[in-house]
Amino acid sequence: MDTVKSKNSKVYYRHQYWNNIPIVLEYICENYTGNKQKWWIADFKERYCEQPFEHALVMMCGNGWVERELYDKGIARQFSAFDYLEDLLEKARAKKAGRRIHYFQADANLLELEENKYDLIVNVAAMHHVQYINRMCRMLCWALKPEGVFVNTDYIGPHRNQYSQRHWHYVKKINAQLPQQYRKQSLNKPRLGTMLHMDPSEAIHSELTIETITRYFDIVERHDTNGGVAYPLLTRNRNISKELTPDMEKWVQYILQEDRKYTEAKKVPPLFSYFIAHPRKTVLQNDALLNACQLEENAREAKAAKRDGIYSLSAYYQYRVKKWYRQTFKS
Ligand SMILES: C[S@@+](CC[C@H](N)C(=O)[O-])C[C@H]1O[C@@H](n2cnc3c(N)ncnc32)[C@H](O)[C@@H]1O
Repeated sequence: MDTVKSKNSKVYYRHQYWNNIPIVLEYICENYTGNKQKWWIADFKERYCEQPFEHALVMMCGNGWVERELYDKGIARQFSAFDYLEDLLEKARAKKAGRRIHYFQADANLLELEENKYDLIVNVAAMHHVQYINRMCRMLCWALKPEGVFVNTDYIGPHRNQYSQRHWHYVKKINAQLPQQYRKQSLNKPRLGTMLHMDPSEAIHSELTIETITRYFDIVERHDTNGGVAYPLLTRNRNISKELTPDMEKWVQYILQEDRKYTEAKKVPPLFSYFIAHPRKTVLQNDALLNACQLEENAREAKAAKRDGIYSLSAYYQYRVKKWYRQTFKS
């Protein structure tokens, strides 16, 4: 029995995302690494890989670009990578050529890994699909060697993109300031029903990512990349293409400028984060804490299962999201 409800790989890699636009990528690089021209992989390689790691695990690898790029940059000598969807794994296998990458099929929510097996674990845009996020983080802590490194870049915003009213008010405000021809048309707050229909695992517990990872890992550095305004306005905006005209570029720059301003003023939260962490192995000896966290997770999921996978109707979950906004603005 698996937990995966959407087995359609077409939901991935099909839209224009904000980071497909070159100047947006520069903005993300600047926030992640302090250098517009430096992608996090180059930064990670420079500062953490004097010697290649021996064995790396890439979570939920999709079409495999992450481990191919990391391998080609010499970040680890060998990789293991898993995904649930066989057709994506086939694509990844077809492109691996002579690289030392071992692919396996697994459901992240049921994954079993060997203790202290990996020197490096990498999450790129995947943890936000994990339903049993506590179990997963605990498993990653267990599978990483004590001196191992966990590197993450992912969406950490409100679950299933259920932004607060206040947050959405600012997104709409900036959209209205754009010339008509660049505005995102039909700018609607993502509807829970649509999210559940498209892919119920999308951002299923994203707002718990930082909280859950810090339960099992010490985050040694964290670099957020804003996005509270720019991500919803530039993702799937049919009026803005990645081949920018000079006028379009001026307005994309405007969106990025406002994105920075609104994030710094704590009017909108950062939605993406690049961070590096080490496992806190001692927590694995704390049976009381491990049991309590797993029981809480199991109860949350059992309750949601009775409501077709909906969490946000419960007062508890609305409370969690509100708490997340409060804590994010405080830090
Ligand atoms: C947004 S894609 C990211 C893929 C890849 N990391 C990348 O950056 O291109 C999310 C991936 O998670 C996989 N996935 C979703 N739920 C999963 C699960 N329960 N177990 C394993 N893989 C899963 C999907 O098949 C998909 O490849």
